[in-house]
Amino acid sequence: MNHPDLAIVILAAGKGTRMKSALPKVLHKVGGFPMLLHVLDVAQKLGASRRIVVVGPGMEAVEHAAMAFDPSCECVVQREQLGTGDAVKAAKDALAGFTGTVLVLYADTPLISQVTLHELLSTLEIYDIAVLGMQPRDPGAYGRLILNPEGDLTAIVEYKDATEEQRAIPLCNSGVMAVRNGRMFALLDEVKNDNAKGEYYLTDIVAGAMRHHLRCGVAEGKEEELLGINSRQELAQGEYNFQQRRRAELMENGVTLIDPSSVFFSADTEIGADTLIEPQVFMGPGVMIGDGCHIKAFCHLEGATIGNRSTIGPMARLRPGAKLVRNNKVGNFVEIKNATLHPGAQASHLSYLGDASIGAGTNIGAGTITCNYDGFQKYKTTVGEGVFIGSNSALVAPVTIGDGAIVGAGSVITRNVPPGALALSRPDQVEKPGWAEVFKAEHGE
Ligand code: UD1
Ligand code: CA
Repeated sequence: MNHPDLAIVILAAGKGTRMKSALPKVLHKVGGFPMLLHVLDVAQKLGASRRIVVVGPGMEAVEHAAMAFDPSCECVVQREQLGTGDAVKAAKDALAGFTGTVLVLYADTPLISQVTLHELLSTLEIYDIAVLGMQPRDPGAYGRLILNPEGDLTAIVEYKDATEEQRAIPLCNSGVMAVRNGRMFALLDEVKNDNAKGEYYLTDIVAGAMRHHLRCGVAEGKEEELLGINSRQELAQGEYNFQQRRRAELMENGVTLIDPSSVFFSADTEIGADTLIEPQVFMGPGVMIGDGCHIKAFCHLEGATIGNRSTIGPMARLRPGAKLVRNNKVGNFVEIKNATLHPGAQASHLSYLGDASIGAGTNIGAGTITCNYDGFQKYKTTVGEGVFIGSNSALVAPVTIGDGAIVGAGSVITRNVPPGALALSRPDQVEKPGWAEVFKAEHGE
């Protein structure tokens, strides 16, 4: 759905000092992706015609991350970090002449959902300004929402500026706010910084709006979605909330999790119905799993595609570019990187398959290694269909094994093997009859 009358301003310029990090706060990750990208994603999904990210000076990394994810977003720089109101003002020139609704999102509040934002925006059908409130179990240092007897919002008081009485109010400011009819910037121009932090607070536009007889309303959202992340503790809490939500969604879609709390997903993880995931599995970004798969305990997956009806693990590691087409089996202590297993191919034990293509129905014996790296460059291994690679073989790339070939156990394969051939490269076996008996006798048995 496209929203030509909606502009979203995402605040990402804060230094995030409480993170004690060299990395800008909004690039810290939740569900495998920087917080900022979660917010840009929801902004895109809302169909906002303008998406403006406010960054601090020297935050090129934040700008690059934003532009790489959403090339049609705009980045503006807030010269000095003078507060959230000043930060929104940094988007004023970019939005000159815009007469629609300006929605402010915080890049440090990454879990906000589309549904909640729709509710907030529908509040604007009655009100001029809509603020998203919440009632957290621990309201801590959030700003408090002051309502009049009719339930309209009359002011937002920052915790540091609040009286004891105001601090006792359970309804808090999530930071998310929308102003319609292009009124945002005129209201911001009236905001002063005579407060505890000496900052220009975005929240002060509410009290300002009262003077112009504008009406402010509150929509309420869930605490789990509206957590603001300022410290490593809160980052861990955000990750927890994210994982809880993904687990619930995936189970809702037909995925079985034996122990949901021990399986970790990324924001982009996709899993088909009737897939069973055992405990202690971690998925980094870029994981797609088909229908009817079985992911056994203790697997680590990232950038991997697993086709329908495949079985992985226990204790398998699939790295970026691992592709299991379908009906594959990858067993314990197998590592796969940038390699495709065509239908039915299997590697059941103790292997490394890197930069490789393994043909349909091929069996990779225990301990097989693709030697893909000579210390300088990587090379490819191509194994045909219906091939049998004996245990403990080393396939020295670049090398091709033809369809239907057999490689004897313990071989080091350095040259191409023609289709249907047997390749052996190991010393012939020698037997010395009686040798062992003599040896034992000489050593005093
Ligand atoms: C803010 C709200 C508070 C609310 C809380 C919810 C104000 C004054 N306070 O407080 O009412 O309960 O969020 O999480 O708005 N930022 C800039 N430039 C600045 C300052 C901040 O871009 O000059 C950005 C930050 O990167 C962050 C967001 O704005 O993404 C919020 O700033 P932060 O300093 O974390 O505000 P809080 O003190 O948490
Ligand atoms: Ca915050």
